[in-house]
Amino acid sequence: MYTIVLATQKGGSGKSTLAIGLAVAAQQAGHNVRVIETDRQGTLSNWQVRRNLAEPIVEAVYDAKMIEPRLEALARGGVTVTIIDTASGINAATTAAIRHCDLCLVPARPSVADIEATAPTLSVIRAWRKAFAFVLNQTPIRGGQRISEATSSLDESAPRDIAEVLAQPYINMRNDHQDALAAGQGVTEFDPSGKSAQELRSLWRWTISKLAGDLVMQEANELKGASELMDVEFPIMLQPPAEQAEASVSRAYPTWADSNASWETGF
Ligand SMILES: Nc1ncnc2c1ncn2[C@@H]1O[C@H](COP(=O)(O)OP(=O)(O)OP(=O)(O)O)[C@@H](O)[C@H]1O
Ligand SMILES: [Mg+2]
Repeated sequence: MYTIVLATQKGGSGKSTLAIGLAVAAQQAGHNVRVIETDRQGTLSNWQVRRNLAEPIVEAVYDAKMIEPRLEALARGGVTVTIIDTASGINAATTAAIRHCDLCLVPARPSVADIEATAPTLSVIRAWRKAFAFVLNQTPIRGGQRISEATSSLDESAPRDIAEVLAQPYINMRNDHQDALAAGQGVTEFDPSGKSAQELRSLWRWTISKLAGDLVMQEANELKGASELMDVEFPIMLQPPAEQAEASVSRAYPTWADSNASWETGF
């Protein structure tokens, strides 16, 4: 089973919207999908109430200790993809979800504020040495070409690890996402031939390719005897003081904000 977490500090960046969009796209691609909601705000539970279909099942798991056993049970029960939607910020449930995931997707609107706000989340991701990718969301449609140029220039000039962790494609801002949410649908159900649907299907394909590729690498490393043990002093407690989490990020882990790459370039 693949476990994918949507997480970032910043509210409103699109965690729930992308969790729904990806869950439905994965289901349409033939996966047995389960969605876990750790955010008491209940965006996904409310979405499922509006939905006339049982699948994908959304289950609320608020207790951080229950995440791991729940994932194990789902894997045993034949679920092939679990997508976890988390609350803004970092809390115990988000930390546990990241700890037990295969891939963490970090949505960010193409603004410096959103990208800088990913730092605490990246700190947890890096501490657990998890694969991750940024998903540029709510990108302006007319800025598409310019954003595309910006991401291309990142490929050329940014440190490799930054360029390699940008999910493709970026997701444009369109009413479809809000209308699908309101209708209890995934965007690929709402208007299957629409551009938002195409983007979400492509994002799912990118995601599953990344997962498959990373797991192959991981297995190869395990065969080579590479240690799974973390050599970092584990800085993330289940509920770290906010200032400690922030301090550990700014000192220990570079982020986009620390790099020379400017996301304003070309926008
Ligand atoms: N690509 C998009 N195009 C248009 N609207 C979008 C897009 N992505 C998200 N939205 C809208 O932006 C708002 C915030 O999105 P969403 O609720 O998914 O963010 P979130 O990160 O889950 O927020 P929170 O931190 O509050 O849980 C919603 O109204 C949603 O419909
Ligand atoms: Mg949400």
